[in-house]
Amino acid sequence: MAANWAPDSWTKAEARQLPDYPDAAALARATDTLATFPPLVFAGEARNLTAELADVAAGKAFLLQGGDCAESFAEHSANNIRDTFRVILQMAVVLTYASKLPVVKLGRMAGQFAKPRSAPNETIDGVELPSYRGDNVNDIAFTPESRIPDPQRMIRAYSQSAATLNLLRAFAQGGYANLHQVHRWTHDFMGRSPWSKKYAETADRIGEALEFMAACGIDPETVPQLAQTHFYTSHEALLLPFEEALTRQDSLTGDWYDTSAHFLWIGDRTRFEGSAHVEFLRGIGNPIGVKCGPSLDPDALLRMLDTLNPGRVPGRMTLITRYGYDKIEASLPKLVRAVTREGHPVVWSCDPMHGNTVKAVTGYKTRPFDRILAEVRGFFAVHRAEGTHAGGIHAEMTGQNVTECTGGAIDVTEQSLADRYHTHCDPRLNAGQSLELAFLLAEMLNEEMAERRKAAA
Ligand code: PEP
Ligand code: CO
Repeated sequence: MAANWAPDSWTKAEARQLPDYPDAAALARATDTLATFPPLVFAGEARNLTAELADVAAGKAFLLQGGDCAESFAEHSANNIRDTFRVILQMAVVLTYASKLPVVKLGRMAGQFAKPRSAPNETIDGVELPSYRGDNVNDIAFTPESRIPDPQRMIRAYSQSAATLNLLRAFAQGGYANLHQVHRWTHDFMGRSPWSKKYAETADRIGEALEFMAACGIDPETVPQLAQTHFYTSHEALLLPFEEALTRQDSLTGDWYDTSAHFLWIGDRTRFEGSAHVEFLRGIGNPIGVKCGPSLDPDALLRMLDTLNPGRVPGRMTLITRYGYDKIEASLPKLVRAVTREGHPVVWSCDPMHGNTVKAVTGYKTRPFDRILAEVRGFFAVHRAEGTHAGGIHAEMTGQNVTECTGGAIDVTEQSLADRYHTHCDPRLNAGQSLELAFLLAEMLNEEMAERRKAAA
């Protein structure tokens, strides 16, 4: 257990990106209520995830983390949840089939509400208002009332997270994720994509393998793993009053866990030395992630790893690098070398989204798909050169047919961005682009595996 730590010790450190609640008593009422609610996840599940991530750190598995940039109250529906869940399943199948590695599935779902912002205020047509900070803080509508931080929103975020998690658990364990359904995880609107044809071919081969196995007596009756999957949840641990209220002591081990999700991460804007967010995450037993952007130098990273994982527990730390397609190959090697030299066991994961955001001529915030793929290629190239495992991907994506990132096989142009631009924050990959990304990842992973086999021979 971390020394000199308590669920509220973060309040003594410098906190950036937290809302200024105008009514302290209302805030206390909301967090007191949350503190009486049941945990959303069980500590044992978080420990299982740490064990699965330890396999990733050891090069024996791959991490697939994805979901909305920001979940919203308005877009909460069974269809949205199912569609994102099934793209993640599709991506996992493609990755597993190509690499023969197990894939750890982690949604940016069931709690991804709070957003760090680059500016505290937003100005439209000369009117300045506080920025939107996510649906658990304020409302996206551009009016003075909407933008006032309202602590009751945390209660609604808790309920929505509980409902989402409930459905995800049902899908993961109740038959939807049965490998025999591999052909049914497709989306109607993807019919035109060359990648959906390629997916159907992979699904055919998996179907044949399953028939062969069934003939040998291996089927979901005898091996329940074929009919179920593990699916975990994650979000940025940004809104610390909320996270603190859901932090509980595990009755089995006595350790503290943030029971709002299985995995929590610290954003690039809140990971500075001495930060309240680092202080909070230091004391919880969950596996945690740190976003690593261009301003992070290797010595600061090593100090942070010593703070967050002094016991060097494999699977505890995931480093999510987000440099931008044109910076990754120059910047990542020095971090990888420092961490390898010091012997810290980490999962290296690639977020090819946050360093590649641009403004389209039409004014929309977008991400060119070819830059996203270029960052992924750069990530694999660096790890191959350094002899480390390119362990994971962190993507902002949705199962919907949105037009938010430009490019991809069914080309989204700057002009067509307006067609279905629904995100509450950053532009997401649509289902087709996500699948296309999975095929590129599969190819790169396959090469890594082939090289490892050659080196071992
Ligand atoms: C995010 O993941 O939505 C995010 C804000 O990322 P970062 O902290 O890397 O900018
Ligand atoms: Co984002």
